[in-house]
Parts: sequence; C-alpha cells; structure tokens
Amino acid sequence: MPTVAVFNQKGGVAKTTTAVNLAALWARRGHRTLLVDMDAQGNATAAFGIAPRPLKGVYDLLVEAATVEEVIRTSCMDNLWILPSTPNLSGLDVALSGVLEPQLVLRRALESPSADAEYVVIDCPPTLGLPSVNALVAAGELVIPTFCYRHAQDGLHATWANVRRMARRINPVLRINGVLLISPDSNEVSRRTADIIRAEFGDKVYQTFIPGDNLIPLAEESDMPLVLLHPDAPAAKAYEKALGEIEQRIYNASRSSLRNVESTAEDEAKELVTPSSWLSMIEEPGQR
Ligand SMILES: Nc1ncnc2c1ncn2[C@@H]1O[C@H](COP(=O)(O)OP(=O)(O)OP(=O)(O)O)[C@@H](O)[C@H]1O
Ligand SMILES: [Mg+2]
Repeated sequence: MPTVAVFNQKGGVAKTTTAVNLAALWARRGHRTLLVDMDAQGNATAAFGIAPRPLKGVYDLLVEAATVEEVIRTSCMDNLWILPSTPNLSGLDVALSGVLEPQLVLRRALESPSADAEYVVIDCPPTLGLPSVNALVAAGELVIPTFCYRHAQDGLHATWANVRRMARRINPVLRINGVLLISPDSNEVSRRTADIIRAEFGDKVYQTFIPGDNLIPLAEESDMPLVLLHPDAPAAKAYEKALGEIEQRIYNASRSSLRNVESTAEDEAKELVTPSSWLSMIEEPGQR
C-alpha cells in the first residue's frame, strides 16, 4: 500500500489541490483509496463535500478517542474514503504532549484493517508540527508541490532541507518521490523560477508541470476535485500525467528496495525521537 504524503511547509502552494486530485484519480482508476486530512483547516475534507464538518475526525483517532470505523467517511466517489479533519487537530501537539512516541500515532492508526487501502494520500498543513511529522512518519513517499514564485522557492529549500534531516532519524524509508511545479501564472517570472528549480533539484522535479487553471478555484466552490468535475481541463490532464510519473517512481523504488533491504534504516526508525529533538531539526522558510 503506497502511502503518499503531500507536504510543503510553505502555505498556499497547492498541497490540498494536489492531494485531492491525486486521490480522486487513483479512486477513478478503481483503486481503493484513503485520503487522510491532517490539516485543521479541513480543505481536503471540504473538497469532497463532507459538510457540515464531521463531529469526529482524525484528531479523535490519533488521541485514541475514536476508532477508524467511527471516523472514516465515504465520499462522492466510489473507491474513495476519507479520514476527515476537524478544527481541534491544531491542538494535536498539546494533546499528545505526554504520550510516548507521539510521532507514530498516525502510522499505528493506519495499521487498522479498516484503514486498509491500495493508496493512502495524506494532505498536510503548511507547518512542521506534529500533524505533518506524523504524516511524514506514516508515509513511504513524499510529493512536494510548489508554486513557481520566489517566496515559494525559499519554502521549497527549507522543506527539502528539513525533510531530509528529519527523515534520517524519524523515517529513514521516506523517499522524496518528487517536486511538482505549479505555475498559476504563465509569465516570465514563473518560467524563470521553474528553470532555477529544475536546475537545482534535477530529476527530482517531475517533467509534468501543472498549469494555471481558473477551473480549480471553481471546482473548490463545487466541493469536487477538478479531475472529477472537469476531467478535460488542462490542469486535470496535467495531474493525470503527474500521477503517471509518481506511480513510475513508486514502482522503480519498490524494485530497487527489493534488491537492497534497508534493515539498518528500519532499526533507526524505531529509535525514540522526542518532540524537542525534531523541533531542533527544523528550519524556517528562507533559512539555508
Ligand atoms: N493550478 C492552479 N491554478 C490556479 N489556481 C490554483 C492552482 N492550484 C491551486 N490553486 C489555487 O491556489 C490556492 C491554494 O491552493 P491549496 O489550498 O491547494 O494550497 P495549500 O498548499 O493546500 O494551502 P495551505 O497551505 O493553506 O494548506 C487555492 O485557492 C487554489 O484554488
Ligand atoms: Mg491545504
């Protein structure tokens, strides 16, 4: 079961748009897919029209106040289930402050047979607090979407550095599947920024980029992912191509890890990492 976290510590760079469209595409292809909304803003939950906001969400699951069966919701699509967010998720750090190994609670919850899925997609908030840390520990693959703007580029650097530093201790099997470029405006600045990011991050950047598409905000208003509402829109087609690249990388990586069993890495993953130790690994956007 590939578990794909969609994370960038920069806000507003299409994390949720990417997570909900990837999840919808996998579900549309007939794969049993679970979308986990780890952001207290609940945008991924709303993207599938789960409203009014559910009483119980992933927070209750993580603090052991509810089971997966009590929290999981069906969606407007066949094959797509959602672990929805509720606003109290923003208090997860405090709620789990006395808990041993608080970074492992999502990974353990997803081991429940009721959360079994062929693909798990986790939408993260724009911070490296406990919800994102749990997502990065539960995931095997990381997709980093970024807008092609200068400030987004700084956020990408910080995210890249922090994820690599944290992953070594918290989840050594986490792989940065790729960086997904999104160009909401097709102008000279965004083209230049895309070139700089490609030059710096090389083949970690997907060939496919997501163009600006005004149908994306319109789809949000309709509580439906773009790929469902307007499957022929340019951005929807681009998400389909990006999904192909993501799948190919998952496949390539699973073949190479079969050849190279990472037992040392697995042992390191079991090391206890305390909140203070992961916080000390975090850089703010702009720091290099
Ligand atoms: N390809 C696109 N073209 C035009 N607008 C887009 C595109 N992708 C995303 N957007 C818009 O950008 C805004 C931010 O997108 P989104 O909510 O997915 O970002 P986010 O990274 O999840 O934000 P946050 O950090 O707050 O969780 C939304 O208004 C969305 O409609
Ligand atoms: Mg979001």
